[in-house]
Amino acid sequence: MSDNGGRAHSNDERPATLIAELTYRCVLRCPYCSNPTDCGDARYRRELETEEWVRVFHEARRLGVLQLGLTGGEPLLRRDIVELAAGARAAGLYSTLVTAATPLPRERLIELRDAGLDHVQVSIQDATPEESDRIGGTPGAFPKKIEAARTAKELGFPLTLNFVLHRHNLDRLGGMLALAEELDADRVELANTQYYGWGLHNRDALMPTREQVERSRDVFEDARLRLGSRMDLLYVIPDYFEEFPKPCMGGWGRRAIVMAPNGDAMPCQAAASIPDLTFPNVRDHSLDWIWWESETFNRFRGFEWMQEPCRSCARRDLDYGGCRCQALLLTGDARATDPVCSLSPLHDIVVQARENPELRPLVPLEYRSMKGTALSR
Ligand code: SF4
Ligand code: FES
Repeated sequence: MSDNGGRAHSNDERPATLIAELTYRCVLRCPYCSNPTDCGDARYRRELETEEWVRVFHEARRLGVLQLGLTGGEPLLRRDIVELAAGARAAGLYSTLVTAATPLPRERLIELRDAGLDHVQVSIQDATPEESDRIGGTPGAFPKKIEAARTAKELGFPLTLNFVLHRHNLDRLGGMLALAEELDADRVELANTQYYGWGLHNRDALMPTREQVERSRDVFEDARLRLGSRMDLLYVIPDYFEEFPKPCMGGWGRRAIVMAPNGDAMPCQAAASIPDLTFPNVRDHSLDWIWWESETFNRFRGFEWMQEPCRSCARRDLDYGGCRCQALLLTGDARATDPVCSLSPLHDIVVQARENPELRPLVPLEYRSMKGTALSR
């Protein structure tokens, strides 16, 4: 373990991934969306131009980035998506289109492939059309997603399917895995809802029961034994049910850069929820300066900023104290130990939220909207 005063100066702390949130506009209205709850705010509508994004892709590659996620919102709502895929290829980045695929016609997939797009990830909200469309808040979306996934495979793209899991769909995990098998997916991400942004706003409605979580582990283990040699299966347990938190984003300012549609650079997708952070913008600064020098990317590097029990904990090198955004949203202090940690003095907040949700009245889902209202708990 080494304290470095909070600055990242070693080569292993170069970013590997750029998550480019090209737009917050979207076709779906998922109640767990990772976009900020004020995603409709005017500042995000000043989206970066094509040439600004392409410049950022080149700067990212020079900084060490290898992988690019072209995401949103819905990245296909950018008219220049094919040019952006070509820009990613020219910069030497491995690019993934992260899409709801509603719709993603064959002609567009061919254009994207010819431009150099490497990989397609389609989000599906559940195993059945009715439930998937209900959670996405968009009737008729499911068949379009299935068609796009099949076409992506036919055209030779590696295909990832992404399912966000919660109380409303966890009992159909087996059906989701069967769908992935039918579509011959190369990779399946089964990630439980993260409770920040819209997810936190809907936490009481989305929190699974402990029995659901236990059953889903068994279903996943069976599938892993059966399918593990054919596809890459990733299952992320809800961290409210874990003993220790995950190293969110691989650690603050250690692995990834998230870029908002207007060019604000952030260390994670929920960082805008931390009120006293200002986000350096690529219209004003180089990505190199943002990564190495900006106060925001340095804020939670190293261990100096930590409070007890993290500061003297043997696991601090493994999880970096958990998620800063979750710590802020649950405790009011972004420097606090993530309350998901069983060692946190405020762990009871998480225990209360996860215990016996089936005994609480069923809470209606609030769908994501672009109205620009900042929701808070
Ligand atoms: Fe991680 Fe902090 Fe918990 Fe230790 S006390 S396990 S560093 S979150
Ligand atoms: Fe921001 Fe975890 S989402 S640090």
